[in-house]
Amino acid sequence: PVLVVDYGAQYAQLIARRVREAQVYSEVVPHTTPVDELLERNPSAIILSGGPASVYEEGAPGVDPALFDAGVPVFGICYGFQAMAKALGGTVEHTGTREFGRTELGVTGGALHEDLPTRHPVWMSHGDCVTKAPEGFAVTAGSDGAPVAGFENVERKLAGVQYHPEVAHSPHGQEVLRRFLHDIAGIRPRWTTASIVDDQVERIRAQVGDGHAICGLSGGVDSAVAAALVQRAIGDRLTCVFVDHGLLRAGERAQVERDFVAATGVKLVTVDAADRFLTALDGVTDPEQKRKIIGREFIRVFEQAAREVKAQGDVEFLVQGTLYPDVVESGGGAGTSNIKSHHNVGGLPDDLQFTLVEPLRLLFKDEVRRVGLELGLPETIVHRQPFPGPGLAIRIIGAVTSERLETLRAADAIAREELSAAGLDSDIWQCPVVLLADVRSVGVQGDGRTYGHPVVLRPVSSEDAMTADWARLPYDVLERISTRITNEVAEVNRVVLDVTSKPPGTIEWE
Ligand code: XMP
Repeated sequence: PVLVVDYGAQYAQLIARRVREAQVYSEVVPHTTPVDELLERNPSAIILSGGPASVYEEGAPGVDPALFDAGVPVFGICYGFQAMAKALGGTVEHTGTREFGRTELGVTGGALHEDLPTRHPVWMSHGDCVTKAPEGFAVTAGSDGAPVAGFENVERKLAGVQYHPEVAHSPHGQEVLRRFLHDIAGIRPRWTTASIVDDQVERIRAQVGDGHAICGLSGGVDSAVAAALVQRAIGDRLTCVFVDHGLLRAGERAQVERDFVAATGVKLVTVDAADRFLTALDGVTDPEQKRKIIGREFIRVFEQAAREVKAQGDVEFLVQGTLYPDVVESGGGAGTSNIKSHHNVGGLPDDLQFTLVEPLRLLFKDEVRRVGLELGLPETIVHRQPFPGPGLAIRIIGAVTSERLETLRAADAIAREELSAAGLDSDIWQCPVVLLADVRSVGVQGDGRTYGHPVVLRPVSSEDAMTADWARLPYDVLERISTRITNEVAEVNRVVLDVTSKPPGTIEWE
């Protein structure tokens, strides 16, 4: 792999994704990894990422110069570029000229920048800068604030840039990364969707042997793609279990039972548990309480189904749709505070011992979607917007009843239909529709007074759900949604728009 050494900025995962876009497999490793451990992994190249520190700060993470003598290609970015310069005997100074954001870069050729426009924009974020390149390095780029903004020693396969080639604001950045990987490091591009599928299918076969596996489907992208990969690998020795908790949106059960099964031929057991969940949720209004109850019931129902499947033949493996960012974050990062308790099928009892199969462990979300398409899954599943595990229960503000679920389902279906018809699906991250079940307001419809409930539209744009902005939907689309909901859903007489970013608001209302 190409190893991206993470110096603690938010860019390392993005760099790893860009490397993969150049069809080269890459992984993120913490900067505390010793050089011999890095080399043991037999990396095809190493990329030193950006970081928040200054190379002269006390305790600033450095680079062991031994790294550069191992014959492994190395590329430094931003902080990594400066650390590299310093380790190789160049000069890094605090000149007082800082550059943040869009900056003009001047280039003078070299393997990295040849034939690119001699002046072009790049994204910078630095206080210190390299004022003298290490001996044997050609300087091929510079800016007002960074006299040495790019250097290379093609023979030693070492190069770096001061700017951030991985961000979209550096329009030629991807090309520069590609040139380092393909031309300077000489790595053959072979990380394609087809090869990911082949590799994973082989790994799953090696792990499962002639054993049997079970997989819980949620209706979401990750579990669907994980199941489809395992199905491709071991056929009907996989059984999928779909727990219908009655809190799904209109059409979602059919999507799993009909479309997913048609696309994959997977063996599916559906458990209809709507009544059980409704009973358990009876009268509950507290959001965290709702989540706890749903999580608990979900595990019980899934456990029961797993026991039944197990009773028919020994099932040793449980498939989970864990993604690469979760792996990186649980491996290295400090704990984040638990703002909402997201549930997962993690809490199965010990006597149901399963070995985990995690076929998406190495993949980013965009790769998961491409793998899904490669495996023939329908667009509706592969490009489904995120939907919380506790479902519509946390979009009904107040107690959950079957009537309220029907009302919300109808309003939500209209909003989704109109957003899709307007071609807005890829512009927004998701658009929760929220029923304020304990609020009533007066309205007038036809000749009569109404006294109905409001629904809230919560369209947001986001990169990763950690932060979000309210999406500026066209007025005519909002108008169609509002008119249709108030006309077609009898209990709703008012549609309101949530114009709060995250923070301070979360995406969901509960
Ligand atoms: P918030 O509301 O925290 O949501 O801004 C961030 C993202 O997470 C989803 N979400 C959940 N997903 N179980 C889930 O599986 C949950 O309990 C849950 N709560 C929020 C939400 O839809 C958004 O995409």
